[in-house]
Amino acid sequence: MERTSPSLEDVLYKAVGSWTTGILNAATVHSIFTHIDNGARTSGAIAERAKIAPRGAQAVLDGLLGIGLVTREGDEYRNTAEAEAYLVRDKPGYMGDLVQFFADHMGEWSRLWQVVRDGVPSKAQGDDATGTDWEKVVLSIIPLSQPGAVASAARLDIANAGPISLLDVGGGSGIYSATWLEANPRARATQVDFAEINSIARRYVSSRAVGDRFSTADGSLHDVDFGNDEHDFAVYSHVAHGESPAGNLDAFRKLRTALKPGGTLVIADFILDDDRTAPPFVLMFQCNMLKANRQGGCWRKQDYRSWLDSAGFRDISTELLAPIPLTLIYAV
Ligand SMILES: C[S@@+](CC[C@H](N)C(=O)[O-])C[C@H]1O[C@@H](n2cnc3c(N)ncnc32)[C@H](O)[C@@H]1O
Repeated sequence: MERTSPSLEDVLYKAVGSWTTGILNAATVHSIFTHIDNGARTSGAIAERAKIAPRGAQAVLDGLLGIGLVTREGDEYRNTAEAEAYLVRDKPGYMGDLVQFFADHMGEWSRLWQVVRDGVPSKAQGDDATGTDWEKVVLSIIPLSQPGAVASAARLDIANAGPISLLDVGGGSGIYSATWLEANPRARATQVDFAEINSIARRYVSSRAVGDRFSTADGSLHDVDFGNDEHDFAVYSHVAHGESPAGNLDAFRKLRTALKPGGTLVIADFILDDDRTAPPFVLMFQCNMLKANRQGGCWRKQDYRSWLDSAGFRDISTELLAPIPLTLIYAV
C-alpha cells in the first residue's frame, strides 16, 4: 500500500496560527466584513470605505482569502457564509468583540512554554486570576453563552414554567437571566457576581426590557449566601472552568441547598470527554486556562458527575451543543 507522506503544509499552517488571529483581528477592527456586506466589493472600494491604506486593504483581503473567510471572483470579494453570520457588525451572532479580545491576549501565548514548565502562570506570563478584565470578557462572550441560554430555556420549557425563580451564579453579562426572563414574563432572576460585573448585567438585562424582574447580589460566590430552598432553577455557566475541584464542589453544595426540592441546576461549560480525547476546541482551551489562572481547567464529565453526586444531586443528564462545542449538564 502506498504511504502518504506527512503533511508539511499541515504543520506550517499550525505554526502560523497567530497569523490567522492577526489577520482576522485587523479585518474586524476595520469592519472589512461589514463593508463587504454593505456593498463594497473591490479592494479599492473597501479601502475607501474603511479609510485604510490601499496596500493594507489588498494584503488583508489576500489574507482573508487565504484563511477562507472571503471568496474572490474577478476583482470582487464576497463574505463566506461564516463571515456573513458571525463577523458582520450588528448581526445577532457577531463575534468581532471576542476576536479582538483574543488578539489582545495573543502575546501571552508566546510565553505559554514557561507556564507549561512552571504549571502555574506568573503575572508576566498572563496570570489574570486577580485582575481579569471581566468587563471585556462578559460582554464579548455573549455569542458563546447565548446558545446555551436559548437551548436550556427550550429544554426546560421555561416559557411555560410559571412564576419561577432563577439563581444565576457568575452570571456575567446577565445573558441567561435576560433570555429566560424574556421567555417567561412571570419569572424572576437573581445574579451573583462581583459588583462591577453586576452593574454591567443590570444595564444589559434592562436593555432587553426585563430589568424590573432582575436583581443582583454582589460578592464572591464562595461568600454570598445563596439561601435555602428558594429557587426553582440555578445556572452556573462558564464558571466551573475557572474554579478548582474544591471550589466547584463548594459551589454545587451551596446550589443544592439554594434550590427547592426537585429544582434543576444547569451547568454550561467546555467539558472534556472522560477519556480526554475530545472535543478538540476544549482540549486546546485547557492551555488557555493554564495560562489564565492558577486553578482552573476543562474538567471531565466524570469530574462533574462526582462533584454533583457529592453535593446531593441525583438525576444528571448532559447535552452537547455542536459546533461550539458547549456541554450543558442538567442536575436535579
Ligand atoms: C466566563 S464569565 C461567564 C459569564 C456568564 N455566566 C456566561 O456564561 O456568559 C465568568 C463569570 O464568573 C464570574 N466569577 C468568577 N469567579 C467568581 C467568583 N468567585 N464569585 C462570583 N463570580 C465569579 C466572573 O465575574 C464572570 O462574570
